[in-house]
Amino acid sequence: MSFLVFEGLDGSGKSSLMKALEAELQKRGIPTYMTREPGGTPLGDEIRHMILRKEGPAPTARTELLLYEASRSQHVDQVIRPQLEKGSWVLCDRFAASSIAFQSGGREISENEVVMLNNFATGGLKAHLTVLLDLPVEESRKRRQGRGEQNGESEDRIESEADSFHEKVRQSFLAQAKADSSAWLVLNAKETPAVLFEQLIKALTDKKILK
Ligand code: TYD
Repeated sequence: MSFLVFEGLDGSGKSSLMKALEAELQKRGIPTYMTREPGGTPLGDEIRHMILRKEGPAPTARTELLLYEASRSQHVDQVIRPQLEKGSWVLCDRFAASSIAFQSGGREISENEVVMLNNFATGGLKAHLTVLLDLPVEESRKRRQGRGEQNGESEDRIESEADSFHEKVRQSFLAQAKADSSAWLVLNAKETPAVLFEQLIKALTDKKILK
């Protein structure tokens, strides 16, 4: 089993890469469970709605962090650990690194406090590898707008933050990856889906996560 996390700005192509990896793992007969944060459990999905909706009362920065962490602890206890114990691979769209990037980088809560709450919520569970799909903020905004025009969805509360917020988020992801380079894989999200998939499989093989 392996616990792989995918991170990046909105529109960086996490879900397409995750789906491609899931198909490859299934082809190889490896049991795989795909999930996401915030959410991944019925209670987590309710919390997700409370965090991301634009109507209704907005949480303060600290409340927002606690809501992400509440969703995370439910997710780890009820889904991620049980799946890993069963021997499945777990592919998770965002995890603890997002709280560091968005709530510490973006909202400027101290990183130590976010790390402490991440540890509390996860009980110390860490990803075997975190894949960062790195994308400039301007490109992320273009892709988000394109997606909105295509499916009529409007931006959620976090997506509607200013470019300066998203720039701090991006820089936090890059700094986290640099500080712990063996646990992170940084990919250039401007590459084609086929190239990104090839780079991911090569890295998983080199790191002996995939045999
Ligand atoms: P989502 O629609 O899942 O974004 P994406 O499809 O791009 O992954 O919404 C999740 C939003 O919540 C996203 O903007 C990032 C943000 N977020 C945080 O601010 N902190 C966190 O800990 C997590 C997990 C997500």
